[in-house]
Amino acid sequence: MTNGLQNISGTVVLAGAGKMGGAMLSGWLAQGLDARRVVVIEPQPSNDIRALAARGMRLNPSPKDIGNIAALVVALKPQAFREAGPALKPFAGRAALVVSIMAGTTIASVAEVCGGNVVRAMPNTPAAIGRGITVAVAANTVGSAQRTTADALLRAIGSVEWVEDESLMDAVTAVSGSGPAYVFLLAEELARAGVAAGLPEALATKLARETLAGSGELLHRSDLSAASLRQNVTSPGGTTAAALEVLMGADGLELLMTRAVAAATRRSRELAK
Ligand SMILES: NC(=O)c1ccc[n+]([C@@H]2O[C@H](COP(=O)([O-])OP(=O)(O)OC[C@H]3O[C@@H](n4cnc5c(N)ncnc54)[C@H](OP(=O)(O)O)[C@@H]3O)[C@@H](O)[C@H]2O)c1
Repeated sequence: MTNGLQNISGTVVLAGAGKMGGAMLSGWLAQGLDARRVVVIEPQPSNDIRALAARGMRLNPSPKDIGNIAALVVALKPQAFREAGPALKPFAGRAALVVSIMAGTTIASVAEVCGGNVVRAMPNTPAAIGRGITVAVAANTVGSAQRTTADALLRAIGSVEWVEDESLMDAVTAVSGSGPAYVFLLAEELARAGVAAGLPEALATKLARETLAGSGELLHRSDLSAASLRQNVTSPGGTTAAALEVLMGADGLELLMTRAVAAATRRSRELAK
């Protein structure tokens, strides 16, 4: 299998192998990046991460013991980055390319703490199964070869969209970063409503979960828009139409979702440093 990862020359350094960093690492290895080309900086590595050392991945080596560094990927919590970021300077300085997936952390603040040419990216949790969507924005110091490297590293966990305007990242965070939680809430509420309509809880939970999962997969595979897929299951005067009249009413989902995304966008702006 060839993909952009095979074209990366040098070592990839991952700082922080938690949920999202670990998902990225799994994606890289699954897509053929040689474990010997990966270094993980992580004070408390999980057993899974330790096991990778047996395949040649290096854990917490000194920066001077790593050859050519292609990229430093920062997947720390933003609070941890403020403390641990300066220690990453030797990696960032040698890599020149720094890919940060830290929510609400601007390109300028990453560059200020650890230096390097920064790509800021916002992935989401379906990354854990290789089905995330990531939006990325590059500092104007990032060259085209570095952008290609960043793209290949991010594409290992799903699709990637690039934007030119960093200020869009707050709305991106509100739509795709936080979005999986809205979908899970929909599954919870559909199950609850099923119970209220008389179904046993276990059955309602299963119906809601599989309906969300199956519809998501259908949306993923279909060329049709979400609106067309919806219209295809709505006969005039039927049961779906009765429900959609409520959901699409004046105080329905459009209003709620607009308010929810606006609230998350505002919060992302407040948290950004
Ligand atoms: N999860 C998401 O849905 C999501 C989506 C978009 C963006 N992000 C971003 O991804 C980043 C990581 O989130 P996460 O959910 O993966 O968090 P997480 O599971 O807590 O991962 C952070 C990892 O960094 C490690 N760490 C702490 N201090 C360190 C240091 N000094 N040097 C190296 N590693 C250190 C942590 O180790 P300890 O556990 O030992 O502290 C942990 O394994 C965050 O900035 C978040 O904003 C997450």
